[in-house]
Amino acid sequence: MIGRLNHVAIATSDIKKAARIYRDTLGAKVSDEVPQPDHGVVTVFVDLGNTKIELLEPLGENSPIANFLKKNPSGGVHHVCYEVEDIIAARDQMRAAGATITGTGEPRIGAHGKPVIFLHPKDFVGTLVELEQA
Ligand code: CO
Repeated sequence: MIGRLNHVAIATSDIKKAARIYRDTLGAKVSDEVPQPDHGVVTVFVDLGNTKIELLEPLGENSPIANFLKKNPSGGVHHVCYEVEDIIAARDQMRAAGATITGTGEPRIGAHGKPVIFLHPKDFVGTLVELEQA
């Protein structure tokens, strides 16, 4: 069912430093910082050609990555995002398989303006999985 790897999201408490590492040390094409108040994060996109890395820094009081950074103070891989053709069909298929969908289970508009759902790490090898309608 899943298609391409859309992005790997890496949480950090210092997005400027993270962007420098990707730009200067690793030599990647790195975007400007984009505050996303609706999502409680600041993002920097690293374009790798075949996929993206999204660097995430908490923004505001109730950032969804705040707890993760409490547990992982030096940062780390927060989630992976796979593309699907139809988010509702994917959601229903995951439900039927017994997977836990976070939140209400209704798709939300993600950081790229496309509908997404998140699947609980306990069902997916310890990794938070985002499904995005391509
Ligand atoms: Co994502």
